[in-house]
Amino acid sequence: MDRRAGITALGAYAPPTVLTNQDLETRMDTSDEWIRTRTGIRRRHVAAEDEFTSDLAFRSVEDLLRRYGDEALAGVDMVIVATNTPDALFPATAALVQHRFGLTAGAFDLLAACPGWIYALSVAKAYVENGQCRKVLAIGAEALTKLVDWDDRSTAVLFGDGAGAAVVEEVEAPYGLAPMVLGADGGGAEHLHAGAVGACLPGGAKLTPKVVMNGREVFKFAVRVMDTATIEAIDKAGLTPDDIELFVPHQANFRIIDAARERLGLPEERVVVTVDEYGNNSTASIPLAMTHALDDGRIRDGDRLLIVAFGGGLSWAAGVMT
Ligand code: COA
Repeated sequence: MDRRAGITALGAYAPPTVLTNQDLETRMDTSDEWIRTRTGIRRRHVAAEDEFTSDLAFRSVEDLLRRYGDEALAGVDMVIVATNTPDALFPATAALVQHRFGLTAGAFDLLAACPGWIYALSVAKAYVENGQCRKVLAIGAEALTKLVDWDDRSTAVLFGDGAGAAVVEEVEAPYGLAPMVLGADGGGAEHLHAGAVGACLPGGAKLTPKVVMNGREVFKFAVRVMDTATIEAIDKAGLTPDDIELFVPHQANFRIIDAARERLGLPEERVVVTVDEYGNNSTASIPLAMTHALDDGRIRDGDRLLIVAFGGGLSWAAGVMT
């Protein structure tokens, strides 16, 4: 019989230091009112100076262990960390997680901008379903505020830090992850990017290791792709929007989330919104929001969840799970 992969454990972490919109008012020419009305963000959690993506990833796994016990990690044979802010180019942040928890596992980082965690789930699903792995630990972890240009008010107010971890392994029907939608358009690199080693774009524009964004272009792209990718993912799962009990979108901007919700015809109570508390913590945003939903009793046995994300350079992903 065909194997089916699904999520069997979740955990999350956000650093305790909080930066409010009012705090930002004292640091740059902005206002609580501007940030709230444009994005829905009120606060964001920020990693300490000596706290990096691996530390956040460790904490999210510790949270998962607290919830599910040590057994949850038994037999994990692959660790994937989706991140845009790895501690180092190598070793992989995932290898640090492997070592920290004494796992006998392969480990690699996955770089796919904000949709990275959905990409990681799709890899985990494939590895479990094709027999390559028994259990995959798929983490989204981000110390994004270290990549933010604090002199650029148009991006600095948007981002935060955090991490979320999930165990993916074989499950029985009706549980499991449906086939996912994965997309990319590198032609949109100019609209949202951050530099690394080969620091230039096609055409030669020099990059710095800071987030650079054309907010309006990204907004238009996000609204469009949240619509098309969610419909495609629901279709791939053989469902209709009415079948979705909970929508857990990437937490970048409340207006983008609400536009997607409306296009799907879902009532407000079926959407998880955490952007007000965390801002956009990229690959961490969906597993963190899912963990919140679990804690709030908003995920019940057999519920069908829709996830979707968009991000840098440009990229998107979506999927449905039971
Ligand atoms: N505080 C106050 N004013 C700000 C500001 C801030 N933090 N950032 C920008 N502004 C100003 C600009 O200088 C500009 O002023 P001007 O009109 O005098 O030139 C004006 O506000 C820009 O307004 P506008 O472009 O109309 O804002 P917007 O409604 O498009 O909202 C974003 C801006 C960034 C909130 C919005 O475009 C957005 O959310 N885009 C998507 C970004 C995203 O999700 N990125 C992450 C992807 S994973």
